Amino acid sequence: MFMLNKLFQKIQIDIKSSKNIECLETLRIKYLGKKGIIANYMQKLQLLSLHDKKKNSIIINEIKKKIIIEIEKKNIFLKEKLLQERIKNEKIDISLPGRRMHNGSLHPITHTINDIKNFFYELGFKIKHGPEIEDEYHNFDALNIDKNHPTRDSQDTFWFDSNRLLRTQTSSMQIRIMKKDKLPIRLLVPGKVYRNDCDATHTPMFHQVEGLIVDKNISFSNLKWIIYNFLYSFFSTSVSIRFRPSYFPFTVLSAEVDIINKKGQALEILGCGIVHPKVLKNVNIDTNIYSACAFGIGIERIAMLRYGILDIRSFFENDLRFLMQFKNI
Ligand code: DAH
Repeated sequence: MFMLNKLFQKIQIDIKSSKNIECLETLRIKYLGKKGIIANYMQKLQLLSLHDKKKNSIIINEIKKKIIIEIEKKNIFLKEKLLQERIKNEKIDISLPGRRMHNGSLHPITHTINDIKNFFYELGFKIKHGPEIEDEYHNFDALNIDKNHPTRDSQDTFWFDSNRLLRTQTSSMQIRIMKKDKLPIRLLVPGKVYRNDCDATHTPMFHQVEGLIVDKNISFSNLKWIIYNFLYSFFSTSVSIRFRPSYFPFTVLSAEVDIINKKGQALEILGCGIVHPKVLKNVNIDTNIYSACAFGIGIERIAMLRYGILDIRSFFENDLRFLMQFKNI
């Protein structure tokens, strides 16, 4: 009992002299912590007789309560002191200019897709989106790309298993829509496509816009009209465009379109053609009545040409210095 009273006096002195919250916390742990002095006293009670144990445990608990109260009082005092010091020292200069908030803006690829959508929307095209995880049937088989056709390899596809893959082209949506929608069809499908390729002109993910028209008497001249008008509107006036014969398994009369730049270099920007009768038959469209034309535009390609970007990877590096340039377009 005498010992404890002395101890309490010492604690009071310690609390009084602790200058900050950290010192006070150290004191609290020293006296009240799991392995602290009070806990130690409690443990020693085990050695006493039942009567003494009872008597002393009451005394120890009383002292413990007092210590808690003293520490709490000091804690409140120190916090208040700290606050007063901060109020005294910290000044707010209300004449300083505020921090500017920077608004986000659309990514140049989104801008480009929006421009394309607007053009075709005005021509009566429906805009649809399709699944990025495709199956072999829609991505290849139904598009007349035969099992051993090199396209399946050369496109270096990301396969999930023997049937499912990340779509390599938005053309897969031609099949889904022709199977479902009523004729005639005017369709535009923007979206992401995936191929295992990466250098200054290729990224493993890029964007395409697929266009499809199914109607009576659709011919190559309809396709040419649309492509010319779109490209002149997209690049404004002075671009030189070239249709070059090409081959796609799902079109017969196939072409690629190049833009000829100021140095006379040709840059391929899209593939197009008259949809192969086999593809139309795959989706039960009567080829005696209907014909179709289609095109697939590489979005990054035309965005690079429009904005003078040399490396396709800059679109996806999230460098704000690059992105900020497109803030006000
Ligand atoms: N899907 C082709 C590609 O990714 C591009 C393409 C070519 C789309 C001809 C078409 C088309 O719709 O008719 O290379």
